[in-house]
Amino acid sequence: MQPRIIVHGGAWTIPAERQQAHIDGVRAAVKTAWPMLAEGADALDAVQAAINLMEIDPTFDAGRGAVLNADGQIELDAAIMDGRTLNYGGVAGVRHFMTPVDIARKVLETEFCLLIAEGAERFARECGLPEVDPRELLTERELELYKELISRKGYCTHDAFKPVPQGTVGAVAMDVNGNIVAATSTGGTPCKKPGRVGDSPLCGAGTYADNETGGASATGFGEGIIRTLMTRSACDYLRDNGANDAARLAIELLHRRVNGHAGLIMLNNKGEYGIFHNTDHMAYAYAHADGTVHASVHMNE
Ligand code: GLY
Repeated sequence: MQPRIIVHGGAWTIPAERQQAHIDGVRAAVKTAWPMLAEGADALDAVQAAINLMEIDPTFDAGRGAVLNADGQIELDAAIMDGRTLNYGGVAGVRHFMTPVDIARKVLETEFCLLIAEGAERFARECGLPEVDPRELLTERELELYKELISRKGYCTHDAFKPVPQGTVGAVAMDVNGNIVAATSTGGTPCKKPGRVGDSPLCGAGTYADNETGGASATGFGEGIIRTLMTRSACDYLRDNGANDAARLAIELLHRRVNGHAGLIMLNNKGEYGIFHNTDHMAYAYAHADGTVHASVHMNE
């Protein structure tokens, strides 16, 4: 099979001065993962490598550069799913690891699906994954946003203030064996309630993959994505629709049922990409069949 990879770097109103960094970041992720796939790497490894690059990049709301919660702390969520076995690994509320998708990958290799907070961190240490001081995740940009939001009386994470960062990162790939893997990593929503878990680490909400249909990764306000099981819904739509239509139908479901705003990337088991968002912008990149990369911040009219 011809390998495929598509990644996203969030869907929100991305300020003009930050758009090039988003394009560069998603392009770099595909440029790292595509040669791995072309050389026969498992989609699990390629997707993990793509996500790692965006977690380390302070451009995005994942790993370094993540938003702060209402207590001024960073709590990271991530997940990865293997469409061949339906094995799933998710982590939530991680504070001392730069690349939580690495912990999620280790969880996927166990009998469990989802570990949270201290339990997830203890497991990561047992696996020998490198710990970081939480200050290494913090950027001046997010500290300033936190101070601004916390000073607003009655601010809630779903208010109309724009631009509210939604720079979650995600990737979906198919390897030469036709195996589909999806993964997502995020710092969640700015000023979220401490302990809040978003859609990204929840199976079928922010992340889903099944070789019988396809794979998907979501970005946007997590609560609506959870309530509509948006990535699982999108993969179900693949049974009767092309990949772009399935992505559109899932976002329309989100909007119709819970007035949600989000972005979605998908890949069906024929290797077709699907992209749709009802936010102002979405950053994404994908590899063409010859390995050349398309990267953009797409704007809705
Ligand atoms: N979509 C990321 C979150 O809401 O946590």
